[in-house]
Amino acid sequence: MYSDNNGNKEIEATEIIPNTKKVYIETYGCQMNVSDSEIVAGILNSAGFAMTDDIARSNVILLNTCSVRDNAEAKIFKRLQHLRQFKKSNSKLIVGILGCMAERLRSKLIGREGLVSIVVGPDEYRSLPEMLNHAFEGESGIAVKLSRVETYDDIIPLRTDGISAWISIMRGCDKFCSFCIVPFTRGRERSKSMPVIIKEAKELYENGIMELTLLGQNVNSYNDPDSNANFAQLLRLVAAAVPRMRIRYTTSHPYDMSDELIETMAEFDNICNFIHLPVQSGSDRILELMNRHYTADSFLERIKYIRKLMPDCAISTDIIAGYPSETAEDHQKTLELINKVRFDGAFMFKYSPRENTKSWDMPDDVPEAIKQQRLTDIINLQNNIAKEINRDERGNEYDVLVEGPSKKNKAEWQGRTSTNKVLIFPRAGEKIGDTVKVRVEGSTSATLFGKKI
Ligand code: SAH
Ligand code: SF4
Ligand code: F3S
Repeated sequence: MYSDNNGNKEIEATEIIPNTKKVYIETYGCQMNVSDSEIVAGILNSAGFAMTDDIARSNVILLNTCSVRDNAEAKIFKRLQHLRQFKKSNSKLIVGILGCMAERLRSKLIGREGLVSIVVGPDEYRSLPEMLNHAFEGESGIAVKLSRVETYDDIIPLRTDGISAWISIMRGCDKFCSFCIVPFTRGRERSKSMPVIIKEAKELYENGIMELTLLGQNVNSYNDPDSNANFAQLLRLVAAAVPRMRIRYTTSHPYDMSDELIETMAEFDNICNFIHLPVQSGSDRILELMNRHYTADSFLERIKYIRKLMPDCAISTDIIAGYPSETAEDHQKTLELINKVRFDGAFMFKYSPRENTKSWDMPDDVPEAIKQQRLTDIINLQNNIAKEINRDERGNEYDVLVEGPSKKNKAEWQGRTSTNKVLIFPRAGEKIGDTVKVRVEGSTSATLFGKKI
């Protein structure tokens, strides 16, 4: 579910009434954070604040942050330095840190760069309006309590315009993978009510949204608080409630990827042919140290069942290079697994020790140069595989959901296939949100190119 490249997503400006305080939100990290920023905008908007995408004229700058690796945090500290210029021209400017770094670093963030005066963790966004009002009076504030129940069920997110939307169906994570900070920054697992999710899905469809992603750190742990329905049952009801909408979800944990879930995906045409299934490593020894609860073989068995029921399903993954004690042999096993599965895509990372996690206590003993070399090996292998897979796409026909003009050439559309691949094709009177049949004619490791048929 992680995307380093979510970039700085901005919430569209609403109508601005004079004297209302204007809030600019910048979002880092995973899609959960993107979805949370929409919840924050919803909360602030109903409390009388206005959202803006003009940072220079904002009264409040909020950074919704990520702690997953050290470099994610380093990026925020750099950004804060950069934000000092806005404080120079507006001494009343309020800067706040939200999200996972707020939860992890708490009071250590107050006063950072002479800027930060409020720090709010992922389960405390309801207190933001009050905290901001205090901040305008010169009071700094910290709210970082994690909740066992908060799901923001009743909050209407202020969504960016577009054809895709997210619903966070569960929050938190109880998996405690040894390397991962998320259970500490997001707290315990809890699920949003199923009827609320279905109602929201229908409303999104009525408002012109064509694609819906159900989000959670570990969606397989979804459990409807009233009916105890599991994730496969929820997915089935959502897919049936909005049959003309594309449904995606992320992220699945391989240990919990049930037959029932795979069967449900196969059964519904509107559930996308795409699964993000983070494997992390191909070595059983490392997987055990990571507390992942599966082996390379059991992972391959899941892949086999997915491909048996959905031969065209694209599969992507996450991989960590250089976990503590990883040997050259462990690394080879990861490369072997990548070769066996042939993933359509992958997010690949160097291991980064995170305080409080179980592996923080293990020596970070793979030397930096070797870590880097292993990561490079993994990236090169994976890119070659993706290139080959995409080359074989030539001649295939896809229904492409048009997302907008191609970044490189405005005379072309960029859209996405059900398998989550970006497909570029020449414009010919279509509009954003249309579904167009396109034949693939060329490709790179990351993109397909084609023509409308
Ligand atoms: N729940 C999501 C994970 C979110 S973190 C999931 O299970 O997919 C996204 C990815 O970041 C993880 O899959 C892992 O590959 C990577 N990651 C997490 N902690 C890390 C760390 N300490 N060092 C390097 N990569 C890490
Ligand atoms: Fe982190 Fe593991 Fe939970 Fe994913 S499943 S958020 S990697 S602890
Ligand atoms: Fe997401 Fe980063 Fe937090 S990946 S859950 S924003 S640590």
